[in-house]
Amino acid sequence: MSAAVQIPPMDARALRAAFGSFMTGVTVVTTRNRAGQAYGFTANSFTSVSLDPPLLLVCPGKFLSSYAEFEACDVFAVSILAEGQEEISNTFASFKGDRFARVETDDDLHGVPVIAGAVAVFSCQKQQVMEAGDHALLIGQVKHFHHSARRGLGYAGGKYFSLGLEQSAARAPKQGLKNVASAIIEQNGAVYLQRDAAGYFLPQVVVSRRGLLRDALQEHLATLELGARLAQVYSIFDQAATGEHHTCFRATTHGAVPREGAFVAVEDLARLDYAVPGQAATLARYATEYQTGLFGLFIGDADGGDIHYS
Ligand SMILES: Cc1cc2nc3c(=O)[nH]c(=O)nc-3n(C[C@H](O)[C@H](O)[C@H](O)COP(=O)(O)O)c2cc1C
Repeated sequence: MSAAVQIPPMDARALRAAFGSFMTGVTVVTTRNRAGQAYGFTANSFTSVSLDPPLLLVCPGKFLSSYAEFEACDVFAVSILAEGQEEISNTFASFKGDRFARVETDDDLHGVPVIAGAVAVFSCQKQQVMEAGDHALLIGQVKHFHHSARRGLGYAGGKYFSLGLEQSAARAPKQGLKNVASAIIEQNGAVYLQRDAAGYFLPQVVVSRRGLLRDALQEHLATLELGARLAQVYSIFDQAATGEHHTCFRATTHGAVPREGAFVAVEDLARLDYAVPGQAATLARYATEYQTGLFGLFIGDADGGDIHYS
């Protein structure tokens, strides 16, 4: 008789972290019920399943407030988010009010709202819902889709990443320059700035190794207690005068009340005096691009450079 093998209980947190180490994209899954009410949640459990017939799946958790709607729906849609759409992901993951009032959507052929500017959108007829533990497998047959050349938003280890932009950011800086990482933290049309005798400046930190830029900046932002979440790289520039190589990220927050420094309206950014000259140019561009919502990535130096739009 073989002895029963005792399997130790699993540490749910560790399991979640291990599952989360699998790099994915980010989608928003949406539906609309017969009464016309729209529902949506952020999901990275998207998987393409079959080409013939065209099938895909996502895994809604039974904990979702909208779970019953997805379980009962006839049609749903999956929007694959693009670089720069982190805020939309956050909205559909945690905002408790009307999520659709915060983002631009279009209605698909079934009248289901889909995310404007997404990399790809799949409009599906529900084929099957299979229960699987605390989640379900929602399988859809693709009835219509569209796809653009935009780059997708990435997600790994609980953080967003933007492959195209990060690759550019990983460019080796010129020898001997100090690496400085800074953040444009935006909240309700205003940007967080600090100030000293030399002028205004973005929260920034000097980083010993380029590989640590994002983590070091995130740690620095945590000390400001603004609840800021880093998004994609916005500007990379050398500042020969100070011997610095700057990498500036975008970031967002909600409801933050700064202990020091202040949020300055985006339209006022271009007329302030800045302590860091490169940040003046970066924020002037930010103020212009904020009006259109189309943000590029600048790579260059004090004499000029290129703006890359994905
Ligand atoms: C990147 C990311 C991926 C997620 N993936 C899933 C998923 O695949 N399935 C799921 O049920 N929830 C997922 N969530 C969590 C849900 O989006 C979140 O619990 C949901 O929007 C809460 O909605 P509710 O307030 O209506 O219950 C994900 C969240 C994030 C940030």
